Amino acid sequence: MNSILPSTGERWRGVIHAYRAHLPVSDATPVVSLNEGNTPLIRVDNFVKAIGGEFELWLKFEGLNPTCSFKDRGMTMAVSKAAERGAQIVICASTGNTSAAAAAYAARAKMKCVVLLPNGKIALGKLAQALMYGATTIAVQGNFDEALRIVRELGETGKVEVVNSINPVRIEGQKTASFEICDQLGRAPDFHFLPVGNAGNITAYWRGFKEYKASGKIDHLPKMFGFQAAGSAPIVDGAPVENPNTVATAIRIGNPASWEGANCALKESNGFIDKVTDEEILDAYKLIARTDGIFVEPASAACLAGLIHCVKAGKIPMGSVISATMTGHGLKDPDNAIKTAGFEPFVVEANKEAVMKVIGL
Ligand code: F0G
Repeated sequence: MNSILPSTGERWRGVIHAYRAHLPVSDATPVVSLNEGNTPLIRVDNFVKAIGGEFELWLKFEGLNPTCSFKDRGMTMAVSKAAERGAQIVICASTGNTSAAAAAYAARAKMKCVVLLPNGKIALGKLAQALMYGATTIAVQGNFDEALRIVRELGETGKVEVVNSINPVRIEGQKTASFEICDQLGRAPDFHFLPVGNAGNITAYWRGFKEYKASGKIDHLPKMFGFQAAGSAPIVDGAPVENPNTVATAIRIGNPASWEGANCALKESNGFIDKVTDEEILDAYKLIARTDGIFVEPASAACLAGLIHCVKAGKIPMGSVISATMTGHGLKDPDNAIKTAGFEPFVVEANKEAVMKVIGL
């Protein structure tokens, strides 16, 4: 369990190499990879106990991908296919993680990368990534939805390759996370939990689970449980949100591009979508760090907050096997981490006694 590689010691070479038979690539596709994927699936019994659950919870820690989010799975596909077509410029709108991945993979492919970000509303680490990987970084005075509209318009000129999840190969790459979960668990989970923003990932996971079932690798499909932030919950509320707002800036999206895909996953899997408040998100964010040593970004914790709701509502049968995607690493968003931790460093004089006093010895 928990290792996808056969015991031959074969080197992990990224998701296209591992799941080539399930992906739209050919010998003509130049694979641009940073060895993404093969992220750990971690069982978190302390967290489950703390929230009063009686089930198995496995976290797929996607923050351990090369640019520290799940976006690398889709981006290896998007940039490889862009390279196959001879594209010179890739472009995306982003709340920060897609842009980090696009910038990194474009650098490796020697392409120009342009990223459009909502001005002032992306986590510090993500901004640092776009700048360090050398992307042309544009802060739009508007929200993600407005930035994506501009990107779509630029895509229509045919001069740039759009690598948002409106590019279908992104979804293809992202579905490999479902394959890995099943490979690591040795079965399909009963429920899969994940945060929902632009809704590409819930679409991708559902596709992945269905494909694995169709190929006989698993014998049942999980129910898909998605969670949005209360101030940015268009799918839950049934209408676009003009001015989305949430502390979980990664999912601060008012009009998801893959809305249809999300609806389909929810309906076909007999799933569930709900919203959680910023306070609940931050509580779950801190709890998973303190109970099991897993530091994720606030958006990832939205689905843990959702799980807490579900436990309280009696929605999870005893003994269930649940997986949940921890979409991004906590270090992406140091500002929220320091604010949420609840205490600051103790500043002491440089001697043993001062330190002992703080420890209470
Ligand atoms: N969690 C994190 C950390 C994200 O960055 C995102 C999306 C999501 C969850 C939601 O995934 O959009 O597929 O429903 N981030 C995008 C970006 C929008 O630009 O990085 P989704």
